[in-house]
This record gives sequence, C-alpha cells and structure tokens, in this order.
Amino acid sequence: DASDIEKGTYPHYMLKEIDEQPLVMRKIIQNYQDESGDLAIDPTIIDAINEADRLYIIACGTSYHAGLVGKQMIEKMAKIPVEVHVASEFGYNMPLLSEKPLFIFISQSGETADSRAVLVQIKEMGYKALTLTNVPGSTLSREADYTLLLHAGPEIAVASTKAYTAQMAVLTILASVVGKSKGHLADFPVVKELGIIANAMETLCDDKDRFEMIAREYLSVTRNCFFIGRSLDYFVCLEGALKLKEISYIQAEGFAGGELKHGTIALIEEGTPVIALATQEDVNLSIRGNVKEVAARGAHPCIISMEGLEQEGDAYVLPEVNPMLTPLISVVPLQLISYYASLHRGCDVDKPRNLAKSVTVE
Ligand code: G6P
Repeated sequence: DASDIEKGTYPHYMLKEIDEQPLVMRKIIQNYQDESGDLAIDPTIIDAINEADRLYIIACGTSYHAGLVGKQMIEKMAKIPVEVHVASEFGYNMPLLSEKPLFIFISQSGETADSRAVLVQIKEMGYKALTLTNVPGSTLSREADYTLLLHAGPEIAVASTKAYTAQMAVLTILASVVGKSKGHLADFPVVKELGIIANAMETLCDDKDRFEMIAREYLSVTRNCFFIGRSLDYFVCLEGALKLKEISYIQAEGFAGGELKHGTIALIEEGTPVIALATQEDVNLSIRGNVKEVAARGAHPCIISMEGLEQEGDAYVLPEVNPMLTPLISVVPLQLISYYASLHRGCDVDKPRNLAKSVTVE
C-alpha cells in the first residue's frame, strides 16, 4: 500500500526516521538561515521573548523531555528563567506566574489535547504563546500567537525520534538567537556546531550493528532496565527510558545518577541492565562512581561516553560535539538500542500497544 512506498527499503518507519535525523538537522539550519548565513528568527518572536521575564514551556511525553533540555539551553545561552511543565498537570498545579510570562508549547503533532487545554486557559488569562510544532496549520500552531516549525517531515512511527532532536535543535537556535540579541554568545558558532551534530548523527546511524549488539547483549531477556546520567545526560536518560518502554514493553526508568542510592538501587539485581550516559566532563567521575555502585550490586552496566571522556570498558564512545549540545546525539544510540530491543522481542515497533501517535483526548 501507499505507506509501504513511503517506507522505501526500510522495514519500519522508526528506523527510517532515526536515519533521517542528520538530514533534518541540515534542513533546520537551512530553514533558519538568513541571506548572510546567520541564523535568524522572526524578530517579533525574539521581541516577545525579550519582553518576557520568564518562559513557561508546556508539553507532554517526548516533547516534554525536549523542553527539559531546552530550558537548560535557554537559561545558559539567553539567560532567561524557564520553567517546564507537563501539560496535564498544569491546570491543577498552576505555578505562581511571573509578571510577564510567555508560554512555549512544544508539540510534534500540534494536536495534543492536554497541551491545547493549557493554551486555551492561558489565552483566556490574556497571555501570549509560541508553539514549536512539526505540523504547519495544526491546532496549537493556529491558536498560538507565534509558531516555529521543526521541519522534520512527517513522523509516522508512534515513538518520536526525529521530532525530538528537531525540537532540541530549534530550541538551540532560539536560545542562541535570543542570547545574541542580548549581547551574549558572541563567539558561539551555532551553524557550525549544528553541522558537527549532523555529521556525528550520521556516524551513529552508520554504527547500527554495534547498537543491535548492545540491545542483544543487554535487553533480550531482561524485564527491566535503568538509564542513569547527571546534568544534561539525565534528561536524555528520561527520553531513553521512555523510548524503551514504549516499544519494547521493558520496564525502564531514567534517573539522575545521584538519586539512585536514595531508593531505586534497591531494585538492582544480578544482571539488571544499567545504561549510563557520560558526556559531561564535570560529572564524568561521579556518574562512573554510580556505575561502580550498581555494578557492585550485580548490575550489568553499559556506559556510553564521549570522545575525550572515555575510559576502558565503555560500551560505546560518541564522537565529540559541543558539550551543551550532547543530547542531540546521545539520544541516537538510545533510540537505536530501543529499536533493536523491540525488534528482537517481537514487538510491533511502529505501532506499540495502547499508544497513539497523537492523543486528542485529555
Ligand atoms: C503521544 C505520543 C508521544 C508524544 C506525545 C506528545 O503520547 O505517543 O510520542 O511524545 O503524545 O505529542 P506531541 O505531538 O504533543 O509532541
């Protein structure tokens, strides 16, 4: 049928969409470049952000995870305080809002009912909203004041991959353009850094055999799996765990490396897989300390580190990228490991049970 044609030679949309990520990065750069080759964003959006005293990111699922990384980027590059909220909770536990809030909705589909409910609520309160979405003309795009597009192309697999990295890339561009407008980041070559990200993604996509082996070694029989990381790696661990549970039905959780000992370490048994990310220099030793703690209790650790930070025995070493942008590449091995775990366990990769691509009920 028509959908098979779109899949081309790929067995699954998810694998195709993972592989499209380098291309999506390059498309995003192109779409956000002005004639002089600099990155540019509609000045009315930059003004709206600069007028705000605090940004409130609202999202669900994978888009929420992109928001957690986006907060770090915006706070570091643009120096504006950011809060990130799960849309479904926002209505009941609305935080005390600042004097001049601006809301940023992140939604691949632009149709998620939980996010839309918040949009309706904050519009009634008289506030403005920016939507980051992959779907031009979607509800969240039409009803917000401003839109930034992800340019990721249609994402068909239920488990989101290229939309997540696209969301982080567009948030990076937004953070850097705002940062530059405020006189920060003079020497941060974003176009070049994102180009390096695209190349690194390509290297990772060419290394599929390695990730298939990791999935076979760690995940073919286990009933659970933990992802640990500190700092930026922690947020990617949340996304890695979500990917794995969505498509392989393995109970997976992402934890901050330092938090494990406060309870979760009780779950470590002989052979429990613990996937650790180590891409941040300042926490490299402490995350490795956490790995030793779980290994001493029988865990089967799999360390994914980055060039320059690697140690003997690491399962995989990522190509070096700007330390602020590591989530854009460290998620790729986790996507591929989840993909192969799902495949090996005979699950329906593209259409996992109980899940929908776009959830239009609250
Ligand atoms: C659904 C999908 C998730 C997605 C979430 C938010 O639950 O299965 O993959 O992350 O909705 O979707 P959105 O389109 O708003 O990003």
